[in-house]
Amino acid sequence: APVKVSKICCIGAGYVGGPTCAVIALKCPHITVTIVDLNQARIDAWNSPDFNVPIYEPGLVDVIRQARGRNLFFSTDVDKAVREADLIFVSVNTPTKKSGVGAGFGADLHYVESATRRIAAVATSNKIVVEKSTVPCRTAESMRTILEANSKPGIRFDILSNPEFLAEGTAISDLFAPDRVLIGSLQTSEGKDACKALADVYANWVPKERILTRISSVNALSAICEATGANIDEVAHAVGFDSRIGPKFLRASVGFGGSCFQKDILNLVVEMNEYQKSRFSKTVVDTLFNTITGKHIAVLGFAFKADTGDTRESAAISIIRDFLSEHLQEACPNTPLESIKKSVTIVHSALEACKQKEAIVIATEWKEFQSIDWELVYGQMAKPAFVFDGRMILDAEKLRKIGFTVKVIGRGDRV
Ligand code: UDX
Ligand code: ADP
Repeated sequence: APVKVSKICCIGAGYVGGPTCAVIALKCPHITVTIVDLNQARIDAWNSPDFNVPIYEPGLVDVIRQARGRNLFFSTDVDKAVREADLIFVSVNTPTKKSGVGAGFGADLHYVESATRRIAAVATSNKIVVEKSTVPCRTAESMRTILEANSKPGIRFDILSNPEFLAEGTAISDLFAPDRVLIGSLQTSEGKDACKALADVYANWVPKERILTRISSVNALSAICEATGANIDEVAHAVGFDSRIGPKFLRASVGFGGSCFQKDILNLVVEMNEYQKSRFSKTVVDTLFNTITGKHIAVLGFAFKADTGDTRESAAISIIRDFLSEHLQEACPNTPLESIKKSVTIVHSALEACKQKEAIVIATEWKEFQSIDWELVYGQMAKPAFVFDGRMILDAEKLRKIGFTVKVIGRGDRV
C-alpha cells in the first residue's frame, strides 16, 4: 500500500527546489518539508529574518512568510533531513556541460550523482526518491543503480520521475495551478504505490485529472519511447496538457514529409536563436554608424527574462559579449576579465544606466522599463539618441516623437 508521506526533504534550494517545495509546504500543512543545500549562504538567505530570499519570484516571499517555521524549514544538514524523510526530491543543478562528451548541449549530471550517493550512504529507512531536476531519459535508471548498489540491506528505494514544468518568473502561479503534474515510475506494484504516494501530495491542491501518472518516460518521441520503454500515446497525452502546446499535432507517425516543415524546424529553432542574438547586436553596431569604439551603451536588463533574478545563458550576456568584442572602449591588452571590468559598469537603476549614453538597449522585458521618464533620459543623452528594443515593450511612436531613433526587434524602422 502507498505510504502516507509526512516528511519531505528537498535536496537543492535553487530555482526549482525552493519554490516547488515551498508551495508543497504551503498547500500541505500536515507535511513537514525541509529544503537542504550545501551552500550555507543560500540557506542563510532563505532563513533571513527580513525574508530577503535568494531568488526572486513574484509571490514567493508570501509563501515563505506563511510556511517557514510552521512546516517549512531550510537547512544545510543534508544527512539529517534525508534520514528523517519518507520522500526526497532531488532538485540539484544540472548545468549544460562545458567540456567533454556532449559539451554545449548535454546535461552535467555529477550533482545528481553525488546527491544520490549521499542518499544511499545515509538512509536508514525506505525512501521514495524523486528526480525533479531537468534530466535526460534514463536518469532514474542510473539513480536506481547507484542507490541499490550502495544501500544498507533491507532498505528499499523507489525512484520516481516528476519533471519540472514551472517557468521562472511565474513559478508560484505555475505551481499553484499547474497545467499538469507528471509522475513516472516503474510499473511494479511498489513503483505504482510510490507514484500514488506522491500523487496524493499534489492532490492536496491540484485537481485529480491534472495529475498524470504511469508515464514511464517523458520528453520523448516514438523512437525514444521504444528504446526506453515508454508509450507514445501517454507521452503525447501528457505533453498536450501544457496550454502552450495543446493536444493537436502530437500524433506519432513514420516521420513528417513535405519540403517546408523539416527545413523550418531544423533551421529555425536553435540556429535562429543564435542568429537572433547576434543579429540584434549587429543592428546596434550598424546603426551606431558601424562602430561602437569609445561609445557608451546602456543595456537594460540582465536576467534571461522578466520577473526572475536568473541570468544563466541570458541574451544580455551574448549581446554584451558581442559589444565587448567590438571594442566598446579601448581594448584591454591583458586578460578578458580585466577588459570586462574596465568596460562594464553595473548600476541599480535604469535611469542611472541611461545617463550620458549614446544608445539604450532593452535586453529583458521588465515592466519598469516601460515607465522610464524618457523625456528626462533624452535630455541627458548624446544626440542622435538611439533606443533598441529587443523585447517589443516600448511605445516606439512616443519615443520617436520625443526625438529618439528607435529600432524594435521584428519591425521595420517606421513601425
Ligand atoms: C522553461 C519552460 O517554459 C518550463 O516549462 C520548464 O519547466 C523550464 O524551462 P523558463 O526557462 O523559466 O521555463 O522560461 P520560458 O518562459 O520558457 O522562457 C525561456 C526563454 O525564452 C526566455 O529567455 C524568454 O525571454 C524567451 N521567450 C519566451 C521569448 O523570447 N519569447 C516568448 O514568446 C517566450
Ligand atoms: P535549478 O535552477 O535547477 O534549481 P540551482 O543552481 O538554482 O538550479 O539550484 C541547485 C542547488 O542545488 C544549488 O543551490 C546547489 O548548491 C545545490 N546542490 C547541488 N548539489 C547538492 C548536493 N549534493 N546536496 C545539496 N545541495 C546540492
